[in-house]
Amino acid sequence: MKRYSGKKIFTAIFISGRGSNLKKLISFSNKKISPIKIIFVFSNKKSADGLIYAKKKKISTICLDEKNFLNSEKKLLKILKKKKINLICLAGFMKILSGNFIKKYRGKIINIHPSLLPKYKGLNTHRRVIENKEKYTGCTVHYVNNKLDSGKIISQKKIKILKTDNENTIAKKVLSEEHKIYPKAIMKIYS
Ligand code: GRF
Repeated sequence: MKRYSGKKIFTAIFISGRGSNLKKLISFSNKKISPIKIIFVFSNKKSADGLIYAKKKKISTICLDEKNFLNSEKKLLKILKKKKINLICLAGFMKILSGNFIKKYRGKIINIHPSLLPKYKGLNTHRRVIENKEKYTGCTVHYVNNKLDSGKIISQKKIKILKTDNENTIAKKVLSEEHKIYPKAIMKIYS
């Protein structure tokens, strides 16, 4: 596998929960071919399982579990600047970042969403996809802008929905594709 020849992009991953995409991003970042170096993992939830995994992998973690997320954002902005972060990957991050925050990191925040955007923005995507008897679903990696799940698309993977599929089977299939598409999208940005 080729080695990434540039200076590695200092990256922060933002999570709120399980962290299965985080796991894949950590293992990707350890590959020679990876353009990113994960400097820290941020969570807005103390209980996020992803934090345990990051610690196990000796990656710094920052948790600001505050009622007023704008306070957390202010602290975060200082940390991001100090740590020279150039890419923020949202991976199951359940807070909406403020316009001020996005403006400061415009073009440097990306997100993964479990649908074929622009369809099914927001929550409960799999349930809605099944209810609407869609033939296809998928996942999308996109830049973050001021509108929810609406920034420029970087990569997408389409999945056929079978007659036998339900919300759970679709959730599993989509998640497994998410794990592949997120590293691929990062490679695409820096290639
Ligand atoms: C993923 O389905 C992601 O697309 C969505 O939230 C879920 C997070 O899962 N934004 P995990 O925490 O990465 O396991």
